[in-house]
Formats: sequence, C-alpha cells, structure tokens
Amino acid sequence: MKKIVLAYSGGLDTSCAVKWLQEHYGYEVICFSAFIGEVKDKTKLIKRAKAAGALKTFIVDLKDEFAKDYILPAIWAHARYEGKYPLATALGRPMIAKHLVEVAEREGAEAVAHGCTGKGNDQVRLEVGVRALNPDLKIIAPLREWEFKTREEEIEYAREKCIPIDVTKKSIYSIDKNIWGIAIEAGILEDPMLEPPEDAYVMTKACDKTPKKPRYIEIGFVKGVPVSLDGKKMPLVTLIDRLNAVAGAYGVGRFDMIENRLVGIKSREVYEAPAADVLLKAHDELEGFVMDREFIHYKRVLSEKYAELVYFGLWFSPLRKALDAFFASNQARVTGKVRIKLDRGHAICVGRESKFALYREKLATYSKGDLFDRTAATGFMKLWGLPYEGMYKS
Ligand code: ARG
Repeated sequence: MKKIVLAYSGGLDTSCAVKWLQEHYGYEVICFSAFIGEVKDKTKLIKRAKAAGALKTFIVDLKDEFAKDYILPAIWAHARYEGKYPLATALGRPMIAKHLVEVAEREGAEAVAHGCTGKGNDQVRLEVGVRALNPDLKIIAPLREWEFKTREEEIEYAREKCIPIDVTKKSIYSIDKNIWGIAIEAGILEDPMLEPPEDAYVMTKACDKTPKKPRYIEIGFVKGVPVSLDGKKMPLVTLIDRLNAVAGAYGVGRFDMIENRLVGIKSREVYEAPAADVLLKAHDELEGFVMDREFIHYKRVLSEKYAELVYFGLWFSPLRKALDAFFASNQARVTGKVRIKLDRGHAICVGRESKFALYREKLATYSKGDLFDRTAATGFMKLWGLPYEGMYKS
C-alpha cells in the first residue's frame, strides 16, 4: 500500500487528516511530530494518532538542531521580519520540511502532508522546502481540499471516526509556539484597533504586573554564540529557555503588528519572544562594539533581506546560504559580554565589554587624556565637503 508522511501536531486538524488521507487517497499514514517548544504529552500524542488510524508515529526532539542550525544563524543575521517579528514559526518550518523528507525517504513513502491552511505562510515554507529537497515527493494539504467548512464539522467527523480529541481545551486564538517565540492570531485579535486582552499572552507578564525593581542580566558570547547567563555557562537551548522565563517575567518581547503575508493579505499578529528579543539586541550591541562602521551599516540592509527570505519560505535558497556565510564571516570577533537591564517591558543594553572592542575611550573622551587629533579635522572637512562646494548656491 502506498504511504504518506504527515506533519502531525496532535490537534484536531491533523488528527482528522490522518483518517481523511486514508479514506480519500487510500494512503497508509505515518505521523511525524517535531518537538521544538514545550514537550507535549508523548503518550497521548501517539495514542491519538493511532486511534485516528496512523500506521506509526515518530516523535523527535529537535530543539538542539533548531537552536544550532536555525536560531543561531538568525541571531547572526539579526533577523526580524518587518523590523519586529523574530521569525519563530518561519524558522521552524524548513526544519520540519527537512525531517518530513527524511522520514518519507526512509519509510519509502511517495508523499508528504501537512495541516496548514491555504491562507498562511506556513504552507509555502513547508512545500517549497520539501520540493527543494525532493521534488519527486507528492504534497497533499488536506485543509485546502477537504469538505469541512467549520471546526464543528471537523469535530463531528472526529466523533464519527472515534478519534479522541480535546474539544474543550481549544484556545480562542490560533497559536504556534516554539522556543524562539509564540505567534498568536485570530479570534478578537482580528480587530486591529482592539488591544490584545491579557489572556492572549502566554510567555510574558503585563507591564503593570512585572517586578517594581529592574533586574540586570549579563549575556556572554564566544565567537558570536551566546554561551552564558550571568557568568554561568549553558547550552543554547537552556539559555533560551531561561531567558524566556527571566525576560518574560519583565514583560519583554511583546509585539503587536500588522504584517504583510506572502499570500498578499495583511494580518494582525501578536507575538511573544522574550529570549529572542534579548539575544538579538545583545548580539547586535556586541557586534556593533567590535565591528567597523561600513560592515555594520551594510549588514543592516542584508538583515532585512534575510528576514524576508526566511519569512517568504526561501530558506532553501542560494541567497540565504550566501547571506549566512556573510554573517558568519566576522563572528570570531563577537566575543565578550553584554549587560542588559530588564525593566517593565523593556530590555535595554546598558553595558558591553570585549577584548576585540573597536571603541577607544582615549579617542572618544571629552575629558583629560584625549588622543584624537582635532587639528586633522580641518583638512578632513575640506576634502569631504569638496564635491558639494557651491552646489546649492543661488
Ligand atoms: N504570521 C506568522 C508567520 O507567518 C505566524 C504564523 C503562525 N502559524 C500558525 N500555524 N499559527 O510566521
């Protein structure tokens, strides 16, 4: 019998998809779940997939791979879509695509499937990824095809087919979460003028509920990699987890934006990404301390492009790879530490230190011991202004 590998989340959509793929396409369904956020109930997930009719279920903890191969390059790139969103979901999808393809090849499946809707960016990221890696695999998106128009119809189908589901637990929002952040959409958030109610937030405290006293933290970097928190060394995943808790308690990393989706619509998105916000700021700060002006200014343009590529589902593209090489090229200098003040919703860089610093107090000072040759400034200005002399004389 022909086989298909389904990216399975354990939710209503993908649980119905297991059965639907069997009934409509006659596939044997292999479920694949990647853990890149909090670890869900493994036994329950497997049980539900089985009840829906899955042939087998693979669950893999991919947090380390996610941190090393996707988050770290995004930190180096200072990647934020439209200047805000740190791309948590967008970075996760290409990794899931890669693993779907691997499982399909290993299991001899002829197709892969996913539970994305036809309106979002995630379908693009998954499908472009799969096609880049193995164009022979068929791709099926049940949610774009099936007859269910409402959630109630899906619930009815699940009941009919004896698929166990938690109907009561469904959030009023659509949520996607991993260690790099959470995306919260839909429900009342679709009114762009309405402030998101507090119950929409999962990882961050409201500003008026944060501790009164600021907290100072120190992030240590070695060759661009964040390696320690307050002097304590830890693996990147642990550091991210801790920062999510610590900075989240201070309300850091909330974003409320109208975002331009690849499929042409504007959508209202609410994000929480405490660790991402802190680490992106800290890395930016340290890099700015050890790199020259030309590099930093030019890089800002490329960061924008990089974020767009990732958001648009073009992770598997030569330009993304080339940009990664560009951003990686100077990380050896990004060694040192950054001091951050967490204070009522803000993460502010208040100190930086590095043996590669290009900052020279003796050149910058307005006090005693100034080594800057101000007599050279006269000649500099003469030549710098030369091309423009008289240009706007009336
Ligand atoms: N708009 C964000 C993005 O495109 C978040 C998507 C959230 N995905 C989801 N399945 N709820 O990256």
